Amino acid sequence: MKVAVIGSGGREHAICTSLKNSKNVSKVYCIPGNAGTNFIAENVKIELNNFQNIKDFIIENNIDLVVVGPEKPLVEGITDYLTSYDIKVFGPNKIASQLEGSKIFTKKLCEKYKIPTANFGIFKNYDEAIKFLNNCDFPLVVKADGLAAGKGVYICEDKEQSICAVKEIFNGKFGKAEEILIEEFLDGEEMSFFIISDGKNFKTFGTAQDHKRVFEGDKGKNTGGMGAYSPSRLETEALNKKIIDMIIKPTLKGLKNLNTNFVGFLYAGLMIIDNKPFLIEYNVRMGDPECQTILPKLKTDFLKIIEACVNEKLDEIDFEWKSEKSVCVVLCSKGYPDSYNNHVEIENLQKIIPNKNEFIFHAGTKIDNSKIFSNGGRVLNFVVLSKEFKESRKKALELINQLNWSNGFFRKDIGFKVIN
Ligand code: AMP
Ligand code: GLY
Repeated sequence: MKVAVIGSGGREHAICTSLKNSKNVSKVYCIPGNAGTNFIAENVKIELNNFQNIKDFIIENNIDLVVVGPEKPLVEGITDYLTSYDIKVFGPNKIASQLEGSKIFTKKLCEKYKIPTANFGIFKNYDEAIKFLNNCDFPLVVKADGLAAGKGVYICEDKEQSICAVKEIFNGKFGKAEEILIEEFLDGEEMSFFIISDGKNFKTFGTAQDHKRVFEGDKGKNTGGMGAYSPSRLETEALNKKIIDMIIKPTLKGLKNLNTNFVGFLYAGLMIIDNKPFLIEYNVRMGDPECQTILPKLKTDFLKIIEACVNEKLDEIDFEWKSEKSVCVVLCSKGYPDSYNNHVEIENLQKIIPNKNEFIFHAGTKIDNSKIFSNGGRVLNFVVLSKEFKESRKKALELINQLNWSNGFFRKDIGFKVIN
């Protein structure tokens, strides 16, 4: 079977790796891919917004199945487009992708189906929002409605900050804003909870905790993710049941009532307060770096799972997972998430030979004349599985130190809540 993976990050390198390990996969393509996917797949240079060229390539090369990694093409309707040419696609359609594409869509769904989430208000213009802010307690959270590459969320400590956030959003920082979301600040511990669905049935797909802040101790600016560990320390059977009953099932029912369904990974970003889950946001894809942390734990053939999803047969397979504790540490370009030097050679990378419980997934890398260069802020993901989180992190850090990349920096404290 020939499969194509869409995307170019660490998540997509991990997905390509799992597919490549499936015995029924004859060839993997990655559109557009990175230096890491280049070694296990054929990288195909097509712009992700050029659905027509992607479709033509898939048809010309008799590709049997497409797995979409990132949210943007999903929200823009790539699944609907490719499906209309009878291409099998793993990833939600445009309507279902509104769960990530519009925070207001999700909030309204929460309201209708009584899904626990932060109290909120939706405001149509600057004056309305400011009037509301005059009578609020702080901190609170101001959010742009649409996709904002993780940057459209402002945690505001006081009125001044919140007014600034409202201004920036209505001034079009994240594209034309017709509405704005202001919500209560939830004080708890975050958890990433994943399910996989074939449109009829779903199964859980692991939990993780990512570290979004750039500095140790979860301080500094938000990033795309500096590392993650799996499973989340909060995971228990009782909590899983609450999440499924109070959040996942009502969401899938809500989509059904809109005459649609969800095929793909659904990622619930949760705040857990006194053992009770609240939905902060949905993502309609795997998390990054959570995916790199979770997929190496999967024992079941990944292609079999994806095929079952696109054929509505997920109920026919059971998933098997390794019991090991997984830690992912992200190596970034110095200066990230602000400005950084790009195209810096990563000299020692090909000298490092990971053992079978160690994985180096590329994110922002490219290959040029057989040499590997950085090509972004988050560059490499070092993932290790072992019996203890502490050991996994230690080994991941050893690999990074072995690489000794002069332009890199990383957090040494990933998983500090599970490693004392
Ligand atoms: P989002 O893009 O919605 O995941 O938000 C980014 C981050 O902002 C989340 O991972 C949380 O850390 C934080 N956040 C978002 N909404 C809230 C909220 N209502 N209360 C507390 N923290 C929040
Ligand atoms: N790890 C956060 C995200 O993938 O959105």
